[in-house]
Amino acid sequence: MVVMAIWFVTHSHGDEEADSPSSGINKSGWYDARATFYGDITGAETQQGACGYSDLNKQGYGLATAALSTALFNNGYTCGACYQIFCANDPQWCLPGSIKITATNFCPPNYTKTVDIWCNPPQKHFDLSLPMFLKIANYKAGVVPVKYRRVRCAKTGGVKFELKGNPYFLMVLPYNVGGAGDIKAMQVRGSKTGWITMKKNWGQHWTTGVVLTGQGLSFKVMTSNGIAKYFMNVTPWYWKFGQTFDGKINF
Ligand SMILES: *[C@@H]1O[C@H](CO)[C@@H](O)[C@H](O)[C@H]1NC(C)=O
Ligand SMILES: *[C@@H]1O[C@H](CO)[C@@H](O)[C@H](O)[C@H]1NC(C)=O
Repeated sequence: MVVMAIWFVTHSHGDEEADSPSSGINKSGWYDARATFYGDITGAETQQGACGYSDLNKQGYGLATAALSTALFNNGYTCGACYQIFCANDPQWCLPGSIKITATNFCPPNYTKTVDIWCNPPQKHFDLSLPMFLKIANYKAGVVPVKYRRVRCAKTGGVKFELKGNPYFLMVLPYNVGGAGDIKAMQVRGSKTGWITMKKNWGQHWTTGVVLTGQGLSFKVMTSNGIAKYFMNVTPWYWKFGQTFDGKINF
């Protein structure tokens, strides 16, 4: 079961290089983990989640998503990262082929449980949407050993910026991030300010206490592989909390 977790942290990011996409399966450069599924075939339970994304269909992630265990979630810094996963070493339940998913949720540890503690540290675990699990394994398996690696996130269209919060607490959720997919640092610039460093809040939310209402906003986003992009004049001066703007370009 996956519950929404709220983290207020400033944690440094353990970098994981994003690999380039590749067709077929090359067994070197893959890491071991396990996979289960949560929710039903509709994936309704996989919406929302600890990264802060909301309607995963509208936001471009669809059902190709997973909740990551503590060891992989990295306090939300890996939200938006993409992984290629295949079922390995379980001839009874594994299906051939691999899937690509985006990290959109957290699979919380449960320290009172003594069995099926897949999501407890230090275990690497992917709690997949059911439709994705069924592409790599038989439903009856419940849990399967998998091999995984980071891959480039292939996203369509620009990075989107959802503006939340209030005048004294601007909280920005970037989503549909291509390339490495996960974000290491972010800055915002109002039309009357210089660049302001934002702090990571829970999930993939970035915040500042500087009042920026009534100003057009630009963003600088650095993904986990160190690549930074400028998204200039993303909003008009009359932007409102709750609105989402298209950054037009992507990684
Ligand atoms: C698999 O990947 C490794 C390391 O990236 C590379 O050296 C090797 O040539 C690849 N093998 C195949 C069959 O592509
Ligand atoms: C943790 O595991 C215990 C024992 O199985 C269970 O009773 C409890 O509901 C679990 N907690 C959560 C949050 O799932």
